[in-house]
Amino acid sequence: MSKSQQLFPYMALSLFLLAGLFHSSCADVGTASQYSPPYIPTACSGNDPSQFPSSNLFGVASEGIWDNGAACGRQYLVRCISAAVPGTCKPDQTIQIRIVDRAQTSVSRPSRDGTTMVLSTTSFGTIANGSASSINIEFQQV
Ligand SMILES: *[C@@H]1O[C@H](CO)[C@@H](O)[C@H](O)[C@H]1NC(C)=O
Repeated sequence: MSKSQQLFPYMALSLFLLAGLFHSSCADVGTASQYSPPYIPTACSGNDPSQFPSSNLFGVASEGIWDNGAACGRQYLVRCISAAVPGTCKPDQTIQIRIVDRAQTSVSRPSRDGTTMVLSTTSFGTIANGSASSINIEFQQV
C-alpha cells in the first residue's frame, strides 16, 4: 500500500470533522423541554415583568448555555427537528426566544430535566405539539 493510500482514511475523517465544525458554527443541535407559569422570580431579573417579551416567546438556559449569567437576554432562533413521537414538530416554524432564567433554579420545573433549553408554553407550542415533554431542536444565537 502506498503512503497516500494509508493516509486516505485519516484525510477523509478530518474533512468530515471539519464539515461538522462548519455546520455547527451556524446552528447547534440540542434538546428542549417546556415549563409553565409561574415564570417569576427569575435568576436574570427577579420579579421585573418587563423582562418577558410581549410575544411570550422566551426560555430558560441549561448550565450548558447559561454562561455564568451572560445568557440573560440572549436571543436564539429555535426550530424543532424531531421528537420521539413522529409528527410532534410543526413544519416550517422557527421562533426567536429570549433567555430569561436558569434551568437549575427556575421556580417552575422543566417537563424534562437536562435539556439544552426550557421553553415557555407559548414557545414550545408554536414549534411542536404541546403535549410532548421534550423535542430535538436546532438553535442559533442571534
Ligand atoms: C398531540 O399529541 C397528542 C399525544 O401524542 C395527540 O393525541 C394529539 O392528537 C396531537 N395533536 C396534534 C394537533 O397533532
